[in-house]
Amino acid sequence: MKTVITIDGPSGAGKGTIARLLAKKLGYRYLDTGALYRAVAWKAGQEKISLDNEDALKKLLNDIAIGFNGDKITVNDIDVSREIRTAEIGELSSQVSAMPVVRKGLFAIQRNMCLQGKVVIEGRDTGTAIFPESANKFYLDAGIEERARRRYEELKLKDSGITLEATIEDIKKRDTRDSTRENSPLTRTDDMIYIDSTNMGIDEVVEKILEHLKK
Ligand code: DC
Repeated sequence: MKTVITIDGPSGAGKGTIARLLAKKLGYRYLDTGALYRAVAWKAGQEKISLDNEDALKKLLNDIAIGFNGDKITVNDIDVSREIRTAEIGELSSQVSAMPVVRKGLFAIQRNMCLQGKVVIEGRDTGTAIFPESANKFYLDAGIEERARRRYEELKLKDSGITLEATIEDIKKRDTRDSTRENSPLTRTDDMIYIDSTNMGIDEVVEKILEHLKK
């Protein structure tokens, strides 16, 4: 049976960690759709493309070759796995993701991977726009302070100048943009299983998802 498990939710909810582990346990592939937006943002930054220049973004989407293999992300064969994880690219990716031309450009990559089945896919619109027919949809959430704390722990390893306060502000800004944009905003729908991971450990969340999948 072809099975697609979608996990949506806001920044820092733990989607990446949970989806990766779940995929490993099930022997499924894993797709981090945020990394695709981050790769586009990185490339736009390299080429100094203004984010309101739709034609230039369209060309970028036509020319870009994004490779993903587990944790390794490449853009036209350049390994950008580390570069795309900065706070700056996080902010830029949220901005580019609001552009219809970018969402359209990345749709086929995500949809095709789902059509092959046996995949855990996570992001903001995987259960609503990419594979709405999935019978296994989850919405992973956590309180804003906890999400910011998790993101901060990740970011401070790469950027010693980062503060928790700045991370909270960044997350608030991204939450608003990601859930109020016109195109495929982050939305929780009735057919998604809601999990609040604020006070839960990683294994506990994975177990909870596995229990639901067994039902
Ligand atoms: O999950 P993340 O922080 O790596 O995602 C980076 C940005 O990409 C996020 O702020 C919004 C955008 N995104 C999106 O619009 N749709 C998705 N399915 C995944 C991410």
